[in-house]
Amino acid sequence: MIVLENISKEYKNGVHALRDVTLTIEDGEFVYIIGPTGSGKSTMIKLLDGEEIPTSGRVLVENTDVGKLKHSKVPIYRRNIGVVYQDYRLLPRLTVFENIAFALEVIGMKKVDIRRRVREVLELVSLEDKAKSFPSELSGGQQQRAAIGRAIANHPKVLIADEPTGNLDPQKSKEIMELLEKINEVENTTIVMVTHDSTIVDRYKKRTICLEEGYVVADIMKGGYLKHD
Ligand SMILES: Nc1ncnc2c1ncn2[C@@H]1O[C@H](COP(=O)(O)OP(=O)(O)OP(=O)(O)O)[C@@H](O)[C@H]1O
Ligand SMILES: [Mg+2]
Repeated sequence: MIVLENISKEYKNGVHALRDVTLTIEDGEFVYIIGPTGSGKSTMIKLLDGEEIPTSGRVLVENTDVGKLKHSKVPIYRRNIGVVYQDYRLLPRLTVFENIAFALEVIGMKKVDIRRRVREVLELVSLEDKAKSFPSELSGGQQQRAAIGRAIANHPKVLIADEPTGNLDPQKSKEIMELLEKINEVENTTIVMVTHDSTIVDRYKKRTICLEEGYVVADIMKGGYLKHD
């Protein structure tokens, strides 16, 4: 479960990126975060993955008080959640297989188990035939599938994604959405996804949290109005 309790984030330059945000995301939910540019979407993702700490309020992810993590503990925390970025961020000198394996090596998994899990993940993201390719040899959609594979290799309970389809054409975006839906269903992973793409939001209906100027202005459950004060 993810809980944001009265979260505010003010950056050093005085910008209020989030203002008194309170919301709960249950296990297994798939939620969009939408809103205009500068409304605080990426800030919310950064609070969830420990990249930023809230100015006030509490961020709980699977019982970890993320805002209170010591700096040195953030990388360890991040190994237990999956994070996906718009620009993939694969390691360029490693193959697809090695990129995914790397995420499992750092948690100390045994070599045989790593090989088995990487094969499984490659099948899930439909990249069995690209195991030996380097990121530069892949299309954007394939790179994003590899990045998603890396993010979920360790069976995280939560996957957060900041505009994962932001650099992709509609066909590739559709593939990524179908993959994320499969992960949500098969692995029961909670997914929080920032998107600008109204076609996606209209087509793959999910709970949708709308931000404006740092406020949650709507929280819409699969097309119906949910709640908001
Ligand atoms: N590190 C930072 N230091 C200072 N201000 C920041 C920082 N990061 C973001 N901001 C500001 O905080 C506000 C919210 O930014 P954020 O990146 O969360 O918006 P966003 O909704 O993700 O926008 P976009 O759709 O353009 O990605 C903006 O006004 C932005 O300029
Ligand atoms: Mg952003």
